[in-house]
Amino acid sequence: MKFTSLFAGALLMGSAFAAVKGDLPSTETVTIPITTANSRGAADVKPKLIANLVLDKVNDVLTTSSIPTLSKIKRHRRTATDLLARALPTLRWPYDSTTRKVRGVSLGGWLVVENFITPSIYASTGNDNIIDEWTFGALQSRDQAVSILQPHLNNFVTEDDIRQIAAAGLNHVRIPIGYWAFEVSSGEPYLKLNQWDLLKQAVGWCGKYGLKVLVDLHAAPGNQNGFDHGGHRGVSTWASNATNVQRTINILQTMSKEFSQSKYANSVTALELLNEPVTDKSVVLDFYQRAYEVVRYPNGRSSPASPLLVAISDEFVSPAYSNYWDDKLRPPTYEAVAIDTHIYTIFDDKSLRLSSKDRINYYCSLKSKWTSSNKIHWQLLGEWSPAFTDCAQGVNGRGRGSRYDGSFKGSQGKINSCAGRSGSAATFSQNYKNLLGRMWESQVDANEGGVGWMMWTWKTESGAAEDWSYQKGLQYGWIPKDPTQRPQGVKC
Ligand SMILES: *[C@@H]1O[C@H](CO)[C@@H](O)[C@H](O)[C@H]1NC(C)=O
Repeated sequence: MKFTSLFAGALLMGSAFAAVKGDLPSTETVTIPITTANSRGAADVKPKLIANLVLDKVNDVLTTSSIPTLSKIKRHRRTATDLLARALPTLRWPYDSTTRKVRGVSLGGWLVVENFITPSIYASTGNDNIIDEWTFGALQSRDQAVSILQPHLNNFVTEDDIRQIAAAGLNHVRIPIGYWAFEVSSGEPYLKLNQWDLLKQAVGWCGKYGLKVLVDLHAAPGNQNGFDHGGHRGVSTWASNATNVQRTINILQTMSKEFSQSKYANSVTALELLNEPVTDKSVVLDFYQRAYEVVRYPNGRSSPASPLLVAISDEFVSPAYSNYWDDKLRPPTYEAVAIDTHIYTIFDDKSLRLSSKDRINYYCSLKSKWTSSNKIHWQLLGEWSPAFTDCAQGVNGRGRGSRYDGSFKGSQGKINSCAGRSGSAATFSQNYKNLLGRMWESQVDANEGGVGWMMWTWKTESGAAEDWSYQKGLQYGWIPKDPTQRPQGVKC
């Protein structure tokens, strides 16, 4: 297939490959994808909900630009003295280190269930209209819903998973949790079970195995993005309801109060205020500022500051190509802020059609961007995947096909068959596994231009979406047992 032939050339060139990537001839127009709000299903959200006024520079469709154009974007650069003058709070991990990189995985699909990660949870409802956690609670009896969800919550992530993550040479775990772990209002059908206790239990295991934890509020009341993993697919009403914004802040304060305690000194290091808001940016900014206050000072200004880093989603306004963040949430008022950028290149037709060479060139082109944005806020790459197709069943939403094989409604024609691209890794060819390895290596290398990375995701249900599984990557060899190694020889 065409990817393989492109790679055959690259492989033959060996170390010369690096030079080709760093130095594209200006005549060569490589269309590169930017991860936008369209990623992971925002196309669901009706234009009136996302509202053009909301996302002023960010389109709900793929934004493309050539690498030469991107490299011309001027950034505001801080001087070294600015940085030295920062009064850094005492943190639990050296996020200011230039040598010690964050390397981690998310525990995706656990406390916030995702159809593509554990399709059996949705399949066992016997109801095709159940597509997210809202409908999971709304469209079946509570007894049935609990009987499906509770075993998943209790068993999907175990102490042995945490042990394996540590044994893989990783140092961070990102744990998404939904607001319904804390409270639900009347009319909200989410199941508040033992998610909060399970989070604290997992954090305890992480401490035992020397792993640091970033706790990520993945879904807020009303849904901040319209994605299925925001709880309620196609609905995005969080920003327009001040009560819901305040509820979100209260939950962050509860989490910060808990995790700022010294018993978590060797585990929880960071709190992400809200995953991937795709909504009114001024509401988000105001929310970030108010939430920062309660996370950094959970017991008020007269009590000691929290040792937790505050991570904020870039809202798909990537510091790689936008100066939007350069003057926001900056020292000295806002210390200890990291920007979390998510990179996916599979949620639109153009990105899917990239050759492997161009895809790797794109990932690598970001490395210097991260180094530069890291001087403004600590730059974290908190979600990305070696998966380079959308063949994982349900990754575009339950019951939807994939653009790659043309089965997604409105897709622009078949690119290739999804056979052997996702599902069980036992069906993956050696060539395909090598390609996944190259995607992994290029992104890891690029992402270490910032403070580091957390791959999405640690594990998937057996036989499902295994191209997304770090655990399967280790088992089948496309991810090295030591994340500093590059068995495929890719270096940006
Ligand atoms: C805002 O959200 C709350 C629940 O937090 C709900 O009770 C209220 O009706 C909502 N307000 C509007 C205007 O939708």
